[in-house]
Amino acid sequence: MSSRPIAVTGIKPSGTPQLGNLLGMIRPALALRERYDAYYFIADEHALTTVADRDELQRLTDEVVATWLALGLDPERDVFYRQSDVPEVFELAWILSCVTPKGLLNRAHAYKAAVDANKATGRTPDDGVSAGLFNYPMLMAADILLFDAAVVPVGADQAQHLEMTRDIAEAFNRTFGDTLTIPEALIDADVAIVPGLDGRKMSKSYGNIIPIFASPDDARKAVMRIVTDSRPPEEPKDPTTCNVFSIYKHVAPPDDVEAMAKRYRAGDVGYGEAKQRLADVLEDQLSAPRRRYEELLADRAAIDAVLAAGAERAHPHARQTLDRAKRAVGLSR
Ligand code: TRP
Repeated sequence: MSSRPIAVTGIKPSGTPQLGNLLGMIRPALALRERYDAYYFIADEHALTTVADRDELQRLTDEVVATWLALGLDPERDVFYRQSDVPEVFELAWILSCVTPKGLLNRAHAYKAAVDANKATGRTPDDGVSAGLFNYPMLMAADILLFDAAVVPVGADQAQHLEMTRDIAEAFNRTFGDTLTIPEALIDADVAIVPGLDGRKMSKSYGNIIPIFASPDDARKAVMRIVTDSRPPEEPKDPTTCNVFSIYKHVAPPDDVEAMAKRYRAGDVGYGEAKQRLADVLEDQLSAPRRRYEELLADRAAIDAVLAAGAERAHPHARQTLDRAKRAVGLSR
């Protein structure tokens, strides 16, 4: 094991990725490997709390593996595995559950939201809440603590889970002696919040996404639907308030971004042309990953081989931490 600090990221398989995921999550996560030993894993067991269809879970898993590989994750260099291939996660989760106050889990946002929704509609508080949903934060703590993560890059929505992970690790260390590494959340405030076609945050639930692995035609069509005002080409425009430019600036090379901003201000570009340029850059940058993505999805054996190799690489560290924890609590000598 190297001496660089470790970063652990869990990726929940949740459907076909869009440009907002790429710029807001995938790119920043991949950049971490410059400074950390990066562990990326597919949180398929967490997905089981919401997906109850075997084919669906398999498809989502394959898609997310293919996505990350196509976009530059290097399985030789980064440790890339599927959570369910590392059963030590579960063993540690049980041990952690015995130092985790139930009241801590009662306060988890996702659980509380489910209870509040039930109360509001006159149902019993735990109606439809699985024990898996309730225990979700504990499994996540096991994911993180098993690999002695120094940092965990997450979105702001996961901040509470990281706080809980720290609380659980501290409780363990207080009870059994210094055993687990206390992680820090890495919540990047300048991570790109990429606007969607209508200017709201790009999100599947708003139906305003630019797909990243769609055909070039479909991607271009999506770009053409970006909402703009009706200023004519020759009228000077403020690039910073334009939905087209707000996406362009995240994907085009810096010099081109600069040049485009000048043309906006000078009244030297129309929205139609700006959209074409944006579609060109996307085509340019995404055509190779798209090909790779399709190749991978057509070759499930290749995906399985990557995951098998990843599990093997994750295993020694997982084993070592679990042994340490089992010795600390008296499950082994
Ligand atoms: N809960 C995270 C999400 O919804 C996914 C996740 C599971 C995770 N285990 C993790 C993230 C461990 C970071 C570290 O996105």
